[in-house]
Amino acid sequence: MAKKKILVTGGCGYIGAHTVVDLMDNDFEVISIDDNSKSTTLLLDGIERITGKTLKNYKVDLKNWQDTRAVFQENPDIEGVIHFAAYKAVGESVSQPLEYYENNLESLINVLKCVAEFKVAQFVFSSSCTVYGSPDSMPVTEASPIKDAESPYGATKQMGERIIQDFAKVHDTKTILLRYFNPVGAHPSIEIGEIPLGKPQNLVPAITQTAIGKLPQMTVFGANYDTRDGSCLRDFIHVSDIAHAHTLALNYLLEGKNQSLCDVFNLGTGNGVTVLEAIKAFEKVSGEKLNYVVGPNRPGDIVAIYANNQHAVDSLKWDIRYDLDEMMRTAWAWEKKMAVDGGYTNQQKSVLN
Ligand code: WQD
Repeated sequence: MAKKKILVTGGCGYIGAHTVVDLMDNDFEVISIDDNSKSTTLLLDGIERITGKTLKNYKVDLKNWQDTRAVFQENPDIEGVIHFAAYKAVGESVSQPLEYYENNLESLINVLKCVAEFKVAQFVFSSSCTVYGSPDSMPVTEASPIKDAESPYGATKQMGERIIQDFAKVHDTKTILLRYFNPVGAHPSIEIGEIPLGKPQNLVPAITQTAIGKLPQMTVFGANYDTRDGSCLRDFIHVSDIAHAHTLALNYLLEGKNQSLCDVFNLGTGNGVTVLEAIKAFEKVSGEKLNYVVGPNRPGDIVAIYANNQHAVDSLKWDIRYDLDEMMRTAWAWEKKMAVDGGYTNQQKSVLN
């Protein structure tokens, strides 16, 4: 039977590449649209080394509707779209709101126009726990209130969800919103992982780059919060567990199991971990003593959030495979690989710095 073809937007990115691997491992044919404005083609090599397959990436700006439409015209057999492509740095979005609204919303709308025109039956959206804002009660369920977004990034995810919900009411496409908590770690093969462009904004790459010596020191942004050790609390989830949830979500739609026109799922482990606990877990797994200081709170940070993931576990049959130690082990192994010349050629590494 012919393989079902899935279009992944942002397939050269961190979560996109890990999802491409999982889809290929589960017998889907995959193509990608990624303009590499916030990613590189380095992960394409890793995808090929893991799967033995080449990901065809169309280097197209999704803000250009004609160019985006041309990809769908060339691939009329697309059965499903997974839309990752978006700017996602919370802090950066505060200083560049228009770029975030234009990029994240115009890209989504162009993709949805093509999904409608070419009658693509399934659509999965990369959303985020940031849509919950600062929750009143924990763990958050999919029914927890959507509060004012703390950043333009979070607002684009809230607006994106609303656009998709309204789209789903008037088109035959079945849709799913996946709300990620904090994706971390690297594929167990250590052939793909996170490649922050410039100084890392997120916690785990900041930890590993400090430990490897790329950063002189790390700052814990605040230790005076109302949590068990004063530092912020998050729900860290391995990127390969996030990736597999996308494959399960597609199959859930392909098998017609969806319970509404737009089902929503939390993708977190259900365990809250503080920043200081994450650092301790890294030190235990790596044997490295991390050089960090406690600094001022970071504007836009919420104090605590972690998921109730029962809906994904029950309905998607989502089985979480990696614990915090494995998240830190793979993140550290990937950082060490990128630091070794053999990991990437010097020419390629020049792209990273
Ligand atoms: C986590 C904690 C920081 C860096 C992320 C993504 C967002 C969304 C939700 C998917 C905070 C602290 C960080 C550092 C630190 N995911 N920290 N020192 O803000 O929860 O958002 O998850 O869509 O896209 O960005 O993640 O890793 O930036 O911060 O103390 O050098 O780590 O203050 O408390 P965040 P993060």
